[in-house]
Amino acid sequence: MSTKGSMGSQIVTDPPKGTRDFPPEDMRMRTWLFNNFREVSRLFSFEEVDFPMVESEELYTRKAGEEIVGQLYNFEDKGGRKVALRPELTPSLARLVLQKGKAQVFPLKWFAIGQCWRYENMTRGRRREHYQWNMDIIGVPGVEAEAELLAAIVMFFERLGITSKDVGIKVSNRKVLQAVLEKYEIQADNFAPVCVIVDKLDKLPRDVIESELAKINVPSEAIDGILKALTLQSFDDLEALIGAESGAVGELKQLFALAEGYGIQDWLQFDASVVRGLAYYTGTVFEGFDKDRKLRAICGGGRYDRLLSTYGGLDTPACGFGFGDAVIVELLKEKKLLPKFPHVVDDVVMALEDSLKIKAAGVAAQLRKSGRVVELVIEKGKKMRWVLKQCETLNAKFLVLLGTTEWEQGGKVTVKNLATREQTVKTVDELIESMSALNV
Ligand code: HAM
Repeated sequence: MSTKGSMGSQIVTDPPKGTRDFPPEDMRMRTWLFNNFREVSRLFSFEEVDFPMVESEELYTRKAGEEIVGQLYNFEDKGGRKVALRPELTPSLARLVLQKGKAQVFPLKWFAIGQCWRYENMTRGRRREHYQWNMDIIGVPGVEAEAELLAAIVMFFERLGITSKDVGIKVSNRKVLQAVLEKYEIQADNFAPVCVIVDKLDKLPRDVIESELAKINVPSEAIDGILKALTLQSFDDLEALIGAESGAVGELKQLFALAEGYGIQDWLQFDASVVRGLAYYTGTVFEGFDKDRKLRAICGGGRYDRLLSTYGGLDTPACGFGFGDAVIVELLKEKKLLPKFPHVVDDVVMALEDSLKIKAAGVAAQLRKSGRVVELVIEKGKKMRWVLKQCETLNAKFLVLLGTTEWEQGGKVTVKNLATREQTVKTVDELIESMSALNV
């Protein structure tokens, strides 16, 4: 909608389709969510990293037919360089690991929280920009690394009040498909494209999947074998198909045994239908889902031991996950677990006379230095009724008023405890002392 004002027509005030503004109330929620991401990462001894929002396009243009490549926000910059807004953080992480080279002490345990851009078809919880929390471990070949990551995800859910009745994590291993492909003597080059195609099984009809597999020369008996393997949900059936000595079986069993150690086994379930739509995964893959099955994947990750070598480095064991900021909020709303995020201040400070405005600024400064959150009334001519309303809106604990009579008695102020309505007169030092003694 545009209306003509005196300066011209009004711009479109909505943000571009699929993107969000973060007004204060949403920003408070985002900060709370990110604080939880950070705190869990810290408790697992991960270090925070970040990368540029714009990367060289070639970092993303993998050839396995992934959806994410078609969704790139890419363009040529003014220097004629082909660049793209990052659709995920993993390629940047791999680039940085490569750039820093051997000087690093492995394993690296890094986390990042960053905005990612994908030109998506929008559905509930899927948009064109989202923030992703990533935790990645570089340099550990064993599933002990995946176990740490899964334990971190579960800790995050638990902090938010989500239980294993609400959410599960489906776990599989791409070596299952690899074994099936080997059985049918399908070329290793076809591994990633096959994974990308079969990942679409829950979105596309089976005959479309079959014809896509046929297009990349997967013979029909192999197609049947692959699709059958994806229905497996027990280790016994898996062993029957690919043999107990297979790497996939061993890794999965070890991972589930470790999960018992962490006490997170109730959250995990083996499900061979999880393949993941990104080309680079080589081993364990997992996805968090809501048990009511109303929402899209909450988080996802896996092992990508060969990504660095596709960028010209040495094969380096690596695994990690991405956890978006959108689906989890939908889930918290569904489960009525989303806390309220009011704007809370400790004190509202106001000069009752204009002549005390400068002194009021000093009082606010002193209170803030002591660590208190202070709203100083900077508007002119405000009445007491307005200030009391303001205290209510800001959920303030104390109203600190500067009046000439008290101020002239050695810099005293009137302090109104807004919860008890009790009113006292004291110096700012006495006020700070009493507040810290009361821990308010
Ligand atoms: P991904 O599965 O593409 O994996 O994304 C991870 C998570 O990001 C999803 O489960 C979802 O929570 C969120 N997400 C992805 N796309 C959107 C979207 N359009 N709107 C809202 N949320 C979205 C990766 O990106 C991998 N790089 C993760 C990883 C890290 N693997 C290893 N390390």
